[in-house]
Amino acid sequence: MASIKIGDIAPDFNAESTRGPISFHQWLGDSWGILFSHPKTFTPVCTTELGTVARLKDEFARRQIKVIGLSVDNSDDQIAWEGDIAETQGQQVDFPMISDAQREVASLYEMIHPNASDTLTVRSVYVIDPNKKIRLTLTYPASTGRDFNEILRAIDSLQLTDARKVATPANWKVGDDVIILPAIDDEKAAELFPEGWDAKKPYLRVVKLAAK
Ligand code: BEZ
Repeated sequence: MASIKIGDIAPDFNAESTRGPISFHQWLGDSWGILFSHPKTFTPVCTTELGTVARLKDEFARRQIKVIGLSVDNSDDQIAWEGDIAETQGQQVDFPMISDAQREVASLYEMIHPNASDTLTVRSVYVIDPNKKIRLTLTYPASTGRDFNEILRAIDSLQLTDARKVATPANWKVGDDVIILPAIDDEKAAELFPEGWDAKKPYLRVVKLAAK
């Protein structure tokens, strides 16, 4: 199967989850979505990741992002594991986890990388926009927990650059200066950014964004 790329429509599926059956596109509705896999229930790094995602609940909600996890386990194990996550991480998991014991969704989204492990998923992340398009993908190995603040930062950039004719530079955070898109000529840029910009090079025009 061809790999899932940025700009593709996220494959739809029906699956069991810790919150009952899920029809993925219907569940996403008009929201942004994050689909992320974790290798296995009752494993240490995954336990910290799920506690972290649960702790960031308000940050996801503020950006209208729905979050859904996945592991190749059954829902009884996943639900029992939620108790351990609450106990050790001080956070109740309040988002669904896809119970993909048959690895159907993991196969569809290529979350099993056989040269890493032919039984467990890697740590995949798919960011999906309200049009169901894949906007960002990340793949981490089992031994490396992800930085969910970075995922939020990247979604801040996606949401901003969808709304304004800008791109965000390295290490950008909300409130920092941005870059005028190369496709916007100076005449158009003057309309969009009447307060001007700093042209470090003709192709590198840095601008402060006035709040809209
Ligand atoms: C973990 O979540 O801690 C983990 C899972 C699989 C392999 C290595 C670590």
